[in-house]
Amino acid sequence: MSVDLRQISLDVIRAGQADSGAYVASPTFSQYGYSWLRDGSWIAQAMDTVGEHDSATAFHRWAGRTLLHYADQIEALLVKMQQGEIPAETDYLPTRFTVNGRLGRDEWPDFQLDGYGAWLWTLVQHCRQVTPALWPEVRPAVALLVRYIAALWPLPNYDCWEEYRDRVHTATLAALYGGLRAVRDYDPALVPDELPEALRQYVLAQGLHPSGGLSKFIPPDAAPGRAVDASLLWAAVPYGLVAIDDPIFRVTLAQIERELHVPGGGVYRYRDDTYFGGGEWPLLAAWQGRVLVKLGRLDEARRLRDWVAAQATPAGHLPEQVDHHLLDGSYYEGWVEKWGTSACPLLWSHAMYLILDAAIQEKEGER
Ligand code: BGC
Repeated sequence: MSVDLRQISLDVIRAGQADSGAYVASPTFSQYGYSWLRDGSWIAQAMDTVGEHDSATAFHRWAGRTLLHYADQIEALLVKMQQGEIPAETDYLPTRFTVNGRLGRDEWPDFQLDGYGAWLWTLVQHCRQVTPALWPEVRPAVALLVRYIAALWPLPNYDCWEEYRDRVHTATLAALYGGLRAVRDYDPALVPDELPEALRQYVLAQGLHPSGGLSKFIPPDAAPGRAVDASLLWAAVPYGLVAIDDPIFRVTLAQIERELHVPGGGVYRYRDDTYFGGGEWPLLAAWQGRVLVKLGRLDEARRLRDWVAAQATPAGHLPEQVDHHLLDGSYYEGWVEKWGTSACPLLWSHAMYLILDAAIQEKEGER
């Protein structure tokens, strides 16, 4: 099963990459015919993981080009910010672009920053390990983006699930920290010395839940259903805002395992999730597996990989979420009527499967 799914995942991703280099989020779902920086970055990372470097290079090149296309818009936004003006929603960079790098035609919860952090982090890995020659080409886009992030990071913006516009999100700050830190280590001149650490200190000072773990929101939300979010896994892996063995992360992981991981099953985004009734997300199960590989909990990681694989359709397609144990099934039909059934195949799900599978194989090889 896993051998086939690996091949099918590659095929799905290849088929979903446009000539421009952009990856479509899902080729069949009504709303996902766009390229998200967040999804795309992890898809490119997966392609690097399995040795499909040209595909990853093409994506990063597309992303760099696309950002530079919006340079005037970014500069205008930065001037507004310096003058103390409140930007309009359309002044920010979007979260998704058409595969040709242009803005979508329909309205979308666009002001999201985490995808830009993901791009910086994955781009640096790609340039460091695979294609150093790409760096000079993308460097102007990176420099621009670092200035954009430096000005905007403290502002509330939509989270990685495109919700809660009025809140600050720990996982978003973790992605920005990881991206900035990676650039700073690779090309120090591009990132002010104190910037990544300022983000980290802000999270440690404001983003801890009374339990001692990281909080979904900053400031923390008292409602129990909103205390923790599976995207907080990113804070340790890969972004390193906290070390994987830091007590803060241990508490966070324990909470995710207790409240969001269905025993023998997948992983919810957060307890109050109602999107398509709030199902388990294969890509989050894979992410948790990846964390467990790093912790040496290989058997559990394998079980998560097998669970992800078992969610594939007979054609081998992985969905965005599955509906075996919905958190609130009363929301399910409404979403299906609005947009059709949950996105499938979702390229990001396939990407995370490949990443987990490779991590497990690598660990097995070390033994
Ligand atoms: C998810 C995002 C994702 C987008 C495209 C949304 O429903 O919340 O995290 O980037 O779909 O896959």
